Order: sequence, then C-alpha cells, then structure tokens
Amino acid sequence: MESHPSGFGPRTQDLLARDGKRVWHPFTQHARWATDEPLVIDRAEGMYLYDADSRAYLDANSSLWVNVHGHKVPEIDAAIVAQLDRLDHATFLGTTHEPGIELAELLIDRAPAGLTRAFFGSDGASSVEAAIKMAFQASAQLGQDRPLYAHIKEGYHGDTLGAVSVGGIELFHSTYRPILLDTVEVSSPGLREPGQSAADRAVEVVTELRELMEHQGQRICAVIVEPMVQAAAGILTHDASFLRGVRELCDEFGAYLIADEIATGLGRTGKQWALDHSGVVPDLLTLGKGVTGGYLPLSAVLAKEGIYEAFLGAPESARTFFHGHSYTANPLCCAAAIANLKLMDANNTVDNAARLGEKLGQLLAPLQTHDGVLEVRRLGTMTGIEVNPVDGIERTGFEICQIMKNNSVLTRPLGDVVVLMPPLAMNDDDLKTIVDVCIAAIDQVTQ
Ligand SMILES: Cc1ncc(COP(=O)(O)O)c(C=O)c1O
Repeated sequence: MESHPSGFGPRTQDLLARDGKRVWHPFTQHARWATDEPLVIDRAEGMYLYDADSRAYLDANSSLWVNVHGHKVPEIDAAIVAQLDRLDHATFLGTTHEPGIELAELLIDRAPAGLTRAFFGSDGASSVEAAIKMAFQASAQLGQDRPLYAHIKEGYHGDTLGAVSVGGIELFHSTYRPILLDTVEVSSPGLREPGQSAADRAVEVVTELRELMEHQGQRICAVIVEPMVQAAAGILTHDASFLRGVRELCDEFGAYLIADEIATGLGRTGKQWALDHSGVVPDLLTLGKGVTGGYLPLSAVLAKEGIYEAFLGAPESARTFFHGHSYTANPLCCAAAIANLKLMDANNTVDNAARLGEKLGQLLAPLQTHDGVLEVRRLGTMTGIEVNPVDGIERTGFEICQIMKNNSVLTRPLGDVVVLMPPLAMNDDDLKTIVDVCIAAIDQVTQ
C-alpha cells in the first residue's frame, strides 16, 4: 500500500476552512482540530473510503463500528432506492408500515428465545433511553418501587442523559454526574489484577453485585451490561460466567437484565449476539449500529412479552409507553436494515465474522510479546491493542492512528488503545494490510 504524501489539495483546504468556521464535531477537541489534519471523506466503495483528494483508506473500524458488508453494497442501495419510490416516511405513532413490520419479524426471528417485541429507536443511545424507561415503568406498573439502576464501571451506553447515567467512564461521564439519574455501580469484570483469571474476576464482581443487591436489590429496576465486551472502555473483555452470575442475581432480586448489544450484536463478536457466548437471555436487548449495514441510523429494543404486557390497559390507566420520535421506524432505515439482515443470512456473515476474527488473532500474535504493547484484547472482530504511553508523546494511540492514516488505513483510538474492527465481510488480504500497517505504526511510535 502506497504511503500518502502530506498536504491537501485546494478543494480539501476550502472544505476544511468552511468546516472550521461553522461545524462542531462530536467527541472532538476543536482546539486541535486543524492541526490534527482531519480528512474530508468524499466517497466510499467496498472496504475503502476516499478523501476529497481521491486518496483511498481501508475502513479499519467499520466507520465507527457500524459497517458490515462494505460501502455501496448493491443489495442495500437497491432496497433504499426501491423504498424511496414507494414511501419515504410516515409516522409509526398510530399508523404502521410493511418495512417496520418485516424488520420487527426479522429481528425477533434471530433474537434470543423469549424476546418477542421490537420497539424502534434511532441512534443506539435512543434505544438505551427507551430500555431504561421501559424497565422502570414496567416495574412500577407491576406495583413495585424501583427507582434505581445498577451498572458497570467502565460501561458506555451512549451520550443522552439516561444513557450517561448508566455509563461508567470517568472521562466521558463524570462532568454530568450532578444532573444524572440515581444509580449504583459495580466494578468492571474486564479490569483484572495482573495474573488474575477472567473467571476469578467474574466471581469477584458478581459477589460485589450480590452484596449491593442484598442492600438495595428491591429498589433496583434493572441491571445494564455490555455483554462480553466493554467496547468504548477500550475493548475490555470478560468471562461469560459474569453474565450468568448477573442473570441469576436479577432473577433472585426481581430486577430486569438489559443487555446492550449495540456494539457487540449482529456478528461483531463472531456470534449473532455476544450473549450467545454465555447462553444468557436478557429481559431487554438494545441493538443499533450495524443493523442497517452501516447505512442509516436505526436502533431497537427487543423485549420479553411480559414487559410488553405490563403496558396494556385502558387509555386512562396511563400505562402507555409514552416514548417515541418523529422518525421512529423510518421506512428507508427499515428497508436498509431488512436488506442488510437478508444479505447477512445469504452470505453467512456471522460465521465468516467468526473466521475473520480468528484470522485477526493470528495476524496480531506478534504483538503479544511486543515491548510497546501492554495487551491485545479481542473477541470476534472487536479488537483493542493497548500500547504503553511513550514519554514525550502527548497522545500515543492518536499518533499511531495518524501514521496508519498516512499509510491508507483509517481507524480511531480510544486513548492509548488502537481499535481494529473491520467490516464483517472484509477479505483476508485487506485484513492483513490493516494489521501490517498497524504493527509498523506501533513499531515506529514505540521503538
Ligand atoms: C455499547 C454501546 N451502547 C450504546 C452506544 C451508543 O450508540 P450511538 O452512538 O449510536 O448512540 C454505543 C456507541 O458506541 C455503544 O458502544
């Protein structure tokens, strides 16, 4: 892969100048925006993104963990165009439409057994909001007083206030603590003492949760977890026994279990759901990101029938779930999701993702003993390479990603964790390019 000369062409420079005057980007320190040399992405095809100077970049983080089959996928393009010909949008409040119905059926068909209802949201965070409100309202309507949520240190569930309330990443969440919901937190099962096994750590955190539940379990309406991988924390992985322990405690103390599969679901961990590594069935499951193949914003909460039934009653009972959005179940988003899920089935994408993940593990093996690397964490295709911060370099992870970018591979770090999360349909050659470029960049920065 050819290395890019530095410097941007006139169109890129013009766009960046206009951007610099008017745009505010998410998770971006704008004091550094210009010197960080952001790319202007102009088009995409297959596994490649192209900048406004026509330079190609392999999409090594699936455009922030959403892309599945690559870009410009003929089947998804055609489905969106066909839907556009028929119905652009109609509200899902009080009316319904075929794409919404079909997508709910497809999701429930592949959901863990026992989840029978799909409630649509837009971005991932909006499905988390819906799930936490559902858990509280359902328990209230079943006659219980449970105003608390339990969540996990280092957890991340999105950036709206409810989702932030059940998050546990200091840097992102501590600023907002004074304005958040009442919650209780247990330690992360993914943060182990040196030499401690993942199974021992799971026992430790489940014990901590038991103590908490013994004190406050009757007041907790839900425990929320990211199954198997705490992604935004830096791809922290944990033992499946942790999830089984949490499920047992939820059953014992009458709390709902919310599994946030927004990042992990639909193949990213090499199985349909990360929960499938554990055999656990949650009461509520949130999904988003890759459900539309990475094309359009759509998320969903999948719920057990009993939770749905807790909302039934006469209109004046106020048992309605008073929650929704203007664009809930937008037909274009649903059409993209239907096409994506059908293509995943036709191409055995989840099995291929498991194989791709194994291949990724083999290619990354040299980093296990690399002096500059603290730990390589991976489940399926979700990979975090934690590097040692280098003296004299302000942002080691960022520097590595900048070098990767100059060598045609695009990803984004989480602090000093370099994240690789290729589209599930990537081939071995492209995967090898990504890993070769990544290892070379780590060598360059850390040696
Ligand atoms: C586990 C998890 N939940 C929720 C979200 C929020 O999703 P969105 O960014 O689409 O709102 C994310 C995003 O990374 C996530 O990883």
